[in-house]
Amino acid sequence: MGSAVGLCSSPRAWGRGWIIARLLCFAAISWVLMTQMEVGAWTYHYGDKSDYSWEVARNFCRSFYTDLVAIQNQGEIAYLNRVLPRHRTYYWIGIRKINNVWTWVGTNKALTKEAENWASREPNNKGRNQDCVEIYIKRNHDAGKWNDEHCQKKKRALCYQASCQSSSCSQHGDCIETIGNYTCDCYPGFYGPECEHVVRCKNLDPGPDCSHPLGEFSYNSTCKFRCQEGFELQGLDMLQCLASGNWTAEAPECAAVKCPALATPGRGRLNCTHWHGDFTYNSICTFSCEMGFVRNGSETLECTALGQWTGLPPLCEAVKCPVLTTPGRGRLNCIHWHGDFTYNSTCAFSCETGFVRNGLEALECTALGQWTGRPPRCEAVKCPVLDSPDRGRLNCTHRHGDFTYNSTCAFSCETGFVRNGSETLECTALGQWTERPPCCEVVKCPVLDSPDRGRLNCTHRHGDFTYNSTCTFSCETGFVRNGSETLECTALGQWTERPPCCEAVKCPALDTPGRGQLNCTHWHGDFTYNSTCAFSCETGFVRNGSEMLECTALGQWTGHPPRCEVMRCPKLRVLEPILMNCSHPLGSFSYGSVCRFRCTQGYFLNGTSRVRCQPDAHWSDKMPTCQEEAAPYFKQVLLYMGGGAVALVALLLTGMLIALLIKRLSDKEEEKTLLNPTSNLGSPGVFTNATFDSNL
Ligand SMILES: *[C@@H]1O[C@H](CO)[C@@H](O)[C@H](O)[C@H]1NC(C)=O
Ligand SMILES: *[C@@H]1O[C@H](CO)[C@@H](O)[C@H](O)[C@H]1NC(C)=O
Ligand SMILES: *[C@@H]1O[C@H](CO)[C@@H](O)[C@H](O)[C@H]1NC(C)=O
Ligand SMILES: *[C@@H]1O[C@H](CO)[C@@H](O)[C@H](O)[C@H]1NC(C)=O
Ligand SMILES: *[C@@H]1O[C@H](CO)[C@@H](O)[C@H](O)[C@H]1NC(C)=O
Ligand SMILES: *[C@@H]1O[C@H](CO)[C@@H](O)[C@H](O)[C@H]1NC(C)=O
Ligand SMILES: *[C@@H]1O[C@H](CO)[C@@H](O)[C@H](O)[C@H]1NC(C)=O
Ligand SMILES: *[C@@H]1O[C@H](CO)[C@@H](O)[C@H](O)[C@H]1NC(C)=O
Ligand SMILES: *[C@@H]1O[C@H](CO)[C@@H](O)[C@H](O)[C@H]1NC(C)=O
Ligand SMILES: *[C@@H]1O[C@H](CO)[C@@H](O)[C@H](O)[C@H]1NC(C)=O
Ligand SMILES: *[C@@H]1O[C@H](CO)[C@@H](O)[C@H](O)[C@H]1NC(C)=O
Ligand SMILES: *[C@@H]1O[C@H](CO)[C@@H](O)[C@H](O)[C@H]1NC(C)=O
Repeated sequence: MGSAVGLCSSPRAWGRGWIIARLLCFAAISWVLMTQMEVGAWTYHYGDKSDYSWEVARNFCRSFYTDLVAIQNQGEIAYLNRVLPRHRTYYWIGIRKINNVWTWVGTNKALTKEAENWASREPNNKGRNQDCVEIYIKRNHDAGKWNDEHCQKKKRALCYQASCQSSSCSQHGDCIETIGNYTCDCYPGFYGPECEHVVRCKNLDPGPDCSHPLGEFSYNSTCKFRCQEGFELQGLDMLQCLASGNWTAEAPECAAVKCPALATPGRGRLNCTHWHGDFTYNSICTFSCEMGFVRNGSETLECTALGQWTGLPPLCEAVKCPVLTTPGRGRLNCIHWHGDFTYNSTCAFSCETGFVRNGLEALECTALGQWTGRPPRCEAVKCPVLDSPDRGRLNCTHRHGDFTYNSTCAFSCETGFVRNGSETLECTALGQWTERPPCCEVVKCPVLDSPDRGRLNCTHRHGDFTYNSTCTFSCETGFVRNGSETLECTALGQWTERPPCCEAVKCPALDTPGRGQLNCTHWHGDFTYNSTCAFSCETGFVRNGSEMLECTALGQWTGHPPRCEVMRCPKLRVLEPILMNCSHPLGSFSYGSVCRFRCTQGYFLNGTSRVRCQPDAHWSDKMPTCQEEAAPYFKQVLLYMGGGAVALVALLLTGMLIALLIKRLSDKEEEKTLLNPTSNLGSPGVFTNATFDSNL
C-alpha cells in the first residue's frame, strides 16, 4: 500500500460522507509522505513513498484524492512531464482495458482516438495482460507518452484532486477540471455557466398532447399529434424539443386522407366533388361513359377514411353487339375499333362465287349494342326452274337448293322419244343454265305410202309416222295384201314389218283347151283379177262352154273353162243290104269320119259310096241306097234298121210314118221345124237319128 496522503488538501472533494470514510480509513497513515503539486483547483499528487500495483494505486488515489489522473489534453501532459520527477518505474494513470476497450476509469468513458497518446509501437500488450497504462515522465524518449503495462507491476500512483462536485454544472453538464477550477460542458439542451438553463423550443399551438419533463416546450418536451378520422398527420406524429431549440420537425398538419388519384377512364368522364382536396377523404367521384360505351363497375366511388375507394374504378367498355359468324358460303370482314364486335365495329359480308348476299352488305354495331340490320345470308344463285320435258323425265341433283348454283339436271325421254339437246345442264354462277333445256322428240319411222292398188289408214298418236303410229293396209277389190295388215312404228324408228303390197287376186291358170286357142288379156298379171280369156276351137270342133271367162275378185273365173268338142255328124245306120265301113279318126261319126258303103249281093248301090263328115257336121253327101233289082224302099229301110222284133215293130211304125212324110215332102222346111224346133240344120250340132232320118 502506498503513501496515500492528501489529508484533505482538497476540501471540496466529491461527497462529504465519502471523504469522511476515507479519512477514517487512512487516518493511521496520515504521516505518510506525500508530494503535492497544486495546479489551480485541479491538483496532481503522487505517492512517493512506495510503488503500487495499478489497483492499489487507484485505491490510493481514491482514498486521498479523487482518482488516478485522467489526462485532458496535451497541455496537461506537458505540465505533468515538466513538473513531476523522473521515477524509475514511471507512473500509473487512470486508463485501463475493460472488456478489451481502453477506458478512462474516472469517467468510465472509452478512450477516443483523438485522445490517444501512446508511445511509439504501443500498446503492444507485450507479455499479455498489459491491461493498464503508465505514463513515461521524463523518459529519454517518448517522454509524456503512454505505455501499456501489466497491472501488477509496481509504479507510482499519479493522482489528481478534482474541483468538480456532483452538483457542479447543475448536473446538466460535464464538469471539466481546469487548472484550479472547472468549467461546465453542458449537456445538449442546457446552457449557462452552471448549465442552469434549459433550451426552449417555440411554443406549439394548443392541441397536441405534450409532456414537459424539463419545462414548457423545452428540451426533451415531447408532443404527440393526432387527427380526426379521415385525416392524417402530415409529418411526424410526435415532436421532440431538441437540444438545438428546434423541434424535431415542423409541427405536423392534419390533411385529409388521400385516396389514389383516379384517372378519367378511357372513353369516359369523371366528375368528382372534393371536400378536402383532390381525391381525399369524402371525395365523391361519379363515372360516366361516352356514347357507345358502358360502365363496368360502380357508378360512384367514395374515398374512405382508410384512403381507399369504396370500389375499383369502373371501366368504360365498348357496348357489345352479338358476335357475328361467317355466313355459310361467305366471308366476313370486320373492322373492330374498340374490341371484337363492339360499338362502331363494322362488318362487311361477301359471298363465294355462285352465291349472292341476301341482306345488307355491311352492318355496324350501334351504341345500343345492336347491329344496324340482320346479318345477311349467302344464298345460292338461282337458275330458272326447269320442268320435266313433255314425254321426258328430269333428274336433278341440287347441291345448294332447288335449281341453284351447281345444280345439275339430267334429262331423259320416255321410250319412243329422243332427246334433242344436251343431256345434262348445270346451273352456273351467273344464274343461267349451261344450255337450253332439251326437248323430247318422238322417234320417227319412215313415211309410208299407200301401196299400189291399196289404201293406208294410219293412226298417229304423236305425229305422222312416229312412235306408236299404227298403219293398217287394205287393198282395192280384186287385190289382196301380201304382208302384215298392220304395222307399228317401234321405239327404234322402225316399222314392225315391211309394208305389204297389194297383189291382184289370182285365178287358177287356164290351159289352152285341146283343139282350141286361148286368148287372154291380163291387166294385173297372168290370170289375175280382171284378166279375160277368150276361148276358140279349131275347125271341126265346137266350144262347149263360155266363150269368155273373166277372173273375178274372188279369184274365180266366171265359169268353167270350155272344151273344144269335135263336130259330130249324124250317126249313120245302115240296114242290109247296105254295108257300111267307117273310120273315125276323131270320134265316131265326127268331123273327119269317113264312111264307105257297099251293098250286099243282089243289090246295087244307088248314090255315093263314100261320105265324109264335114266340119259343119254334115255328111258330105246323101246316104246311098242299095236297090234290089227292085229295091223296095222299106227293104232298104229294114236293111238300114237292122233286124229284131223291136225292129219289126219299129219298121211298121216307121212305114206309117214315112208314108205320112212322103205325103208332106212337098214342104220339107216346115216339117223339119215341126219335128225338131231346136235343131238348126245349118249349124253344127249333134243330130239324133230321128232328125237325121226325118231330113232324109
Ligand atoms: C470557478 O468557476 C466558476 C464558474 O466557472 C466561477 O463561478 C467561479 O468564480 C470560479 N472560481 C474562481 C476562484 O475563479
Ligand atoms: C432527455 O431525453 C433523453 C431521451 O429521452 C434522455 O436520455 C435524457 O436523459 C433526457 N435528458 C434529460 C435531462 O432529462
Ligand atoms: C434551428 O432552426 C433554425 C431556424 O428554423 C435554423 O436556422 C437552425 O439551423 C436550426 N438548428 C438546427 C440545429 O437544426
Ligand atoms: C358533376 O356533378 C355535379 C353534381 O352531381 C353536377 O352539378 C355537375 O354538372 C357535373 N359536372 C359535369 C361536368 O358533369
Ligand atoms: C367487367 O369487368 C370484369 C373484369 O374486367 C369482367 O370479368 C366482366 O366480365 C366485365 N363485365 C361485363 C359486363 O363486361
Ligand atoms: C364511330 O363511328 C363514327 C362514324 O364512323 C365516328 O364518327 C365516331 O367517331 C366513331 N366513334 C368511336 C368512339 O369510334
Ligand atoms: C338420278 O341421278 C342419280 C345420279 O345420277 C341416280 O343415282 C338416280 O338413280 C337418278 N334417279 C332417277 C329417278 O333416275
Ligand atoms: C361447283 O361445281 C364445281 C365443278 O363441279 C366445283 O369445282 C365447285 O367446288 C362447286 N362449288 C360448290 C360451291 O359446290
Ligand atoms: C332439235 O331442235 C332444234 C330446234 O328446236 C331443231 O332445229 C333441230 O332440227 C332439232 N334436231 C333434231 C335432230 O331433231
Ligand atoms: C281408218 O281406221 C279407223 C279405225 O280403224 C276407222 O274408223 C276409219 O274409218 C278408217 N278410215 C278409213 C278412211 O278407212
Ligand atoms: C305405245 O303403245 C303401247 C302399246 O300399244 C302402249 O302401251 C304405250 O302406252 C304407248 N306409248 C305411248 C307413248 O303412246
Ligand atoms: C308375197 O311377196 C313375196 C315377195 O314379195 C313373195 O315371195 C310371196 O310369194 C308373196 N306371197 C304371196 C302369197 O303372193
